[in-house]
Amino acid sequence: NPALPLAGKRVLVTAGGTMERIDPVRYITNDSSGKMGYAIAEAAKRLGAQVTLVTGKASVAVPAGIEVVPVDSTMDMLEAVLDRFDDCDIVIKAAAVADYRAARPSDKKIKKKDERMTLELIKNPDILQTLGERKTKQFIVGFAAETDNGELHAMDKIRRKKSDLLVLNDVTVPGAGFGTDTNIVTVFDESGLVVALPQLSKREVAERLLVLIAERLKARGGSD
Ligand code: PMT
Repeated sequence: NPALPLAGKRVLVTAGGTMERIDPVRYITNDSSGKMGYAIAEAAKRLGAQVTLVTGKASVAVPAGIEVVPVDSTMDMLEAVLDRFDDCDIVIKAAAVADYRAARPSDKKIKKKDERMTLELIKNPDILQTLGERKTKQFIVGFAAETDNGELHAMDKIRRKKSDLLVLNDVTVPGAGFGTDTNIVTVFDESGLVVALPQLSKREVAERLLVLIAERLKARGGSD
């Protein structure tokens, strides 16, 4: 069915920002609203897929008719994604994932004391890279939120993380990136530029991206 190019496909989307606890009342997170990832989950459903949305902190309503798995930290997100990875056909990682977490989160509220304090952070595992290394049939799409040298970083990420496609957004451009209802994205595969989209609603970006993914999957012979 051409109107439902993702019929029969299982799609897992991550969205929102992960949250790293420092103590019971404080955490580290980022500006992700969840809008981009939620739009992708909704568009995947419209195009016929069975969708799971693994979501960190987000400020938009969870979409109807979609299995939603809420998570807090990057480690939680990794576990939720790995638990479901084998059954997926497509994984799209729109979440803004914390690269570091507190080395020793405190179980009591940290008291104010000296003029300066140092918080030690340790590196989180890279979820996208972990998936890239484990993939069998899965089509994996990463995002890259960049502030400078976008194309260079995007090409580095796609190769290092073994993604099938990478969606670059320059988060310094008005109307793109965190929190906005629109985005301006450029899509890459491992050989370079695939398409540069103009400013579009996140809903429209999501639809275009999924149609592109469906075409690539079909060309691979994995569909119908
Ligand atoms: O949620 P919105 O307000 O709508 O904003 C949308 C968005 C800006 C969050 C989204 O469009 C976006 O760019 N998401 C990716 C943000 C990000 O973490 O980018 P990154 O360049 O730091 O990471 C690259 C990729 O690796 C991402 O797919 C990310 O999910 C993944 N990653 C990163 C670190 C890590 N430890 N594990 C990961 O899987």
